[in-house]
Amino acid sequence: MDKKALNGLFRPKSVAVIGASNTPGKIGFSVVDNLIRDGYKGKIFPINPTSPEILGLKAYPSVSDVPEAIDAAIVTVPAKIVPAMAEECGKKGVKGLIVITSGFSESGRKDLEDEVVATGKKYGMRILGPNIVGTLSNSDKFNGSFAPCLPLAGKASLISQSGALLIALDAATYTRKVGFDKLISIGNMSDVDFADVIEWLDDDEDTSCISLYIEGLKNGRRFIEVAQKSKKPIIVLKSGVSAHGAAAAASHTGSLAGAAKVYGAAFRQAGVIQAADLNDLFNRTQAFSEQPAMKGDNLLILTNGGGVGVLATDSAERYGLPLKFAPEDVQTELKKHMPEFGSAKNPVDLTGMAGNEWYYDSVKYAFGHKWTDGLVVLYCETAVTNPMEIAQSIQKAIVDANIKNKPVTVSFVGGERSDAAMSWLVEHGIPAYGAPDLAVDAIAALHEYTVLHAKKHTFDFTSDAKARKASLEIIASARKDGRDSLTEIEAKKVFKAYGLSVTDTQLAKSEDEAVALAKKVGFPIVMKIVSPDILHKSDAGGVKVNIKDEAGVHAAFITIMANAKAYKASANIHGIAIQEMAPMGTEVIMGSVNDATFGPTMMFGLGGIFVEVLKDVTFRVAPIAEDQAVEMIGEIRGAPILAGARGEAPRDRKALAETICKYSTMILDLQDEISETDANPVLVYEDGKGLKVVDARMILKKK
Ligand code: COA
Repeated sequence: MDKKALNGLFRPKSVAVIGASNTPGKIGFSVVDNLIRDGYKGKIFPINPTSPEILGLKAYPSVSDVPEAIDAAIVTVPAKIVPAMAEECGKKGVKGLIVITSGFSESGRKDLEDEVVATGKKYGMRILGPNIVGTLSNSDKFNGSFAPCLPLAGKASLISQSGALLIALDAATYTRKVGFDKLISIGNMSDVDFADVIEWLDDDEDTSCISLYIEGLKNGRRFIEVAQKSKKPIIVLKSGVSAHGAAAAASHTGSLAGAAKVYGAAFRQAGVIQAADLNDLFNRTQAFSEQPAMKGDNLLILTNGGGVGVLATDSAERYGLPLKFAPEDVQTELKKHMPEFGSAKNPVDLTGMAGNEWYYDSVKYAFGHKWTDGLVVLYCETAVTNPMEIAQSIQKAIVDANIKNKPVTVSFVGGERSDAAMSWLVEHGIPAYGAPDLAVDAIAALHEYTVLHAKKHTFDFTSDAKARKASLEIIASARKDGRDSLTEIEAKKVFKAYGLSVTDTQLAKSEDEAVALAKKVGFPIVMKIVSPDILHKSDAGGVKVNIKDEAGVHAAFITIMANAKAYKASANIHGIAIQEMAPMGTEVIMGSVNDATFGPTMMFGLGGIFVEVLKDVTFRVAPIAEDQAVEMIGEIRGAPILAGARGEAPRDRKALAETICKYSTMILDLQDEISETDANPVLVYEDGKGLKVVDARMILKKK
């Protein structure tokens, strides 16, 4: 990371505003006004060709006329003159350009953007934007933007790809009571991208957690690597998850690999916490900016109302943190702070009689107890209690417990007095939410962070050189035929080269050859049409199974050929595949896409109706280590079927995990050549008996 240049962008000691203006309503006016009004302590150099003074500051005709060094230049002149401005700034030794101007790649002028980036490279000057709102930093009182104000001060920092969203969030930080130190608009990401800013914020002492609003990443793999290394929690809201998957796909996997699935998998691998919407982004940011991760899964819920306690208990189960009964000693002690009819199990119900003291004593004890990994405190507004005093008792109990490595979240359910009490709690570093569900969701996210970070993802992988060489030869010969897909027989040869167990499959070009091969393979057999022009063989009537004898081979050969010709008269038919009839097993599907953002990405799920109707599949960006493969097998909804449901023997999940790993090596090794693959179905047998890939599909990259 080019830390010095990025310091220039995000913590500049001096800024020039190119296009500074005395005309209210112009962005060049607003930026200078914001810098002055919000109390920026560094030097401000307005640049304007005709005005000698702007908003009371001495202005200069160009940056080259400024007698001092400039860290950042905020650009607010029309796009067509930005390249010339960049050149002047480069010559002047400016460290970074904050290009607010629109009218670049987002509207068809990538050429202008490229020119600015090239100039930046030439001079070692970093470019933020273009097409951004600017950057804001509370700790430096730096509002280098046309956003309305510095955000409510806090410890989180936000990077947003959408300028409009950043502006909207900026003002909302005050009403939502979620504080930020920095708001960084990243726009077209012509040069500085998410990964760069995350790396920089990771070292920023004023940032405790990083929130992201992402529309689309450019280099997904670098993002995963940088996010994984980040010492600070990252929460992401990704938009645009619905349209992407609509692109036409030639494989099953391709049709299922929509943006939501692939980004979701990548975020998990990156150890990033996902937010479903803006509310979620705020709520989770509030929790992560003030509270540590929850290290274990012993969650204790304390309440004065049975109803909210049960609601919170339901939420805990829903969010993967089911409650356990508190240990005996905890129950015995808590019993002392509640009436006879209270409950000390978990949720701990102090009852509606609970006042300041009971809250204080029980919170302090429960939070301090070694069993508790995280605490949710609930309160329903009653006539006999004062919400503000309850809030103060909770906060004092937390402080007095003197525990720094576990989280607490709070929910007050009530009216204005409860809202005021929650605001007070938030101001004192305790996340507080208007519904028990949200308090539990926040603590569950703090727990998920620990789970995600327990597994380290690495992009290291070992190529299988021998398999690669053999596969590239098969692919080259298909390309020589002018094809952009492999036949099933070719695809299986590639799979086999990578150590996958495939059904023995041979090509028969004539009826006689079919009979001879059938005898060699051994009855019963399966016969399938082999034609690069018929990808969906069953639809074409090109598959016959369970052929038991020679007569059956003759009959099937004639029928399949006739069906294929009827399906597509012009089809180039290579012959008919004769393959062993694999015994019945549990059907699963594996497949891959070469995702535009993340590269080779693998899918796994249960086959047949499960994939067709329920889409019960999961994704990972390759390479996939064995523990991740095990995780994939365990996280699909149909996992119990593989584990041996309803008295059936467990399936060979070890063989399955090994196959997933080999598959991932294959798609990485061949990533320059293949775009989509399917192994569908793969039949998985009982433990120790392995599996068989029964059908294979491999679509090549168009060259
Ligand atoms: N150096 C310095 N200043 C210069 C200049 C130069 N070489 N050439 C012109 N200027 C001055 C202009 O004279 C003007 O100042 P003035 O008001 O004193 O005349 C100022 O720069 C701005 O130029 P102007 O031509 O008036 O542009 P504008 O203010 O109408 O628009 C942008 C400029 C950058 C705001 C506009 O092009 C734009 O991109 N708007 C969209 C920005 C946006 O929304 N970004 C975020 C997206 S999320």
